[in-house]
Amino acid sequence: MKLTVVIDGRRCEAHDGQSLAALLWALKLPARRSVSGEPRLPWCGMGICGECRVAVDGRDGVLACLTPCRDGQQVQTQRGARR
Ligand code: FES
Repeated sequence: MKLTVVIDGRRCEAHDGQSLAALLWALKLPARRSVSGEPRLPWCGMGICGECRVAVDGRDGVLACLTPCRDGQQVQTQRGARR
């Protein structure tokens, strides 16, 4: 089943069961940027490194690797980097 996830205002097609981190990888989008502006990509894929933090439906600091894509989900990169 195909889902639509909106990432930074861009409508993206995702697969049922796909994690947000896998979707970001597939689209070659960084989850966030470091304080020096370097793109940060999901790394461990199992909830340990924190490199995949994004905002999902207005909630900051969500780990994309542990979050399944849902239809209509609103994802913002960058915002998840704030602490
Ligand atoms: S990729 Fe490491 S916590 Fe998500």
